[in-house]
Amino acid sequence: MRRSFARLLALAATTAAIPLASPPTATADVVIGGHPVEISQAPWTVALSSRDRFGGTRAGQFCGGAVVGPSTVLTAAHCLTEDVLGAPPERIPDLKVIVGRAELQSNQGSEIPVRGTWVNPEYNAYTNAGDFALLTLAEPLPQSFVIPMAGAGDPAYEPGTGAAVYGWGDTTGAGDYAKSLRATPVHVLSDALCGKAYPGGAEGTYTADSMLCAGELHGGRDACQGDSGGPLVAQGKLIGVVSWGIGCGLAGSPGVYTRGSYITRALTAGG
Ligand code: ARG
Repeated sequence: MRRSFARLLALAATTAAIPLASPPTATADVVIGGHPVEISQAPWTVALSSRDRFGGTRAGQFCGGAVVGPSTVLTAAHCLTEDVLGAPPERIPDLKVIVGRAELQSNQGSEIPVRGTWVNPEYNAYTNAGDFALLTLAEPLPQSFVIPMAGAGDPAYEPGTGAAVYGWGDTTGAGDYAKSLRATPVHVLSDALCGKAYPGGAEGTYTADSMLCAGELHGGRDACQGDSGGPLVAQGKLIGVVSWGIGCGLAGSPGVYTRGSYITRALTAGG
């Protein structure tokens, strides 16, 4: 994807020791409009890391993820593309999942190697549909790290529901990547509104089947570059995976997430 934070990070890490920067996209404060959180408040939130690929200043963080089973981490498919990683994920020997840690540069929690990866074969990089992937951890985590996923018909998907998105991404839209975990409250928006915001174009197309969108009518609260793969949580359940959007926190351009119920359906369909 041409606006991928992870690809920018990789470029910066390989070209020169310059500060990370991406084109300014918003003036609101992002996770836009967010606040710091302790990892104990969101133990299922993890960082994906490769220091070889992205450099060590932020512990190699390039995407987020969520623990959905003792050995299973859910993330975005676009986080594992060759475009981002420079090679297929199985050829990134230092690909790790950082758990139990809010402050990237601390030695809190642990860094668990990834034993296997599975990318949704239905993922469409042009429309962004079906944007999810799973990582298998080399060692299982205690059940207390696991967040349940909201299945189809769960009230947490209703428009107007209060939710929160978590991540270490850009906090301003101008390349100010967080060193510590942040979250921001947003509301689930209606499919009609999301479809109007993203009727189709170079950035992606809103399709209610595999996506949901969330934000605030006047903008100001959103995920941003570097938050991809991270969790959108409502009523204690995972309802979405950070996927895409135009800019960050802009009025009329809400954040788009891979819909949790699409993921549970895709997984139980045996695909
Ligand atoms: N694609 C971005 C990433 O790779 C996430 C963008 C989310 N954007 C938004 N406005 N919610 O990190």
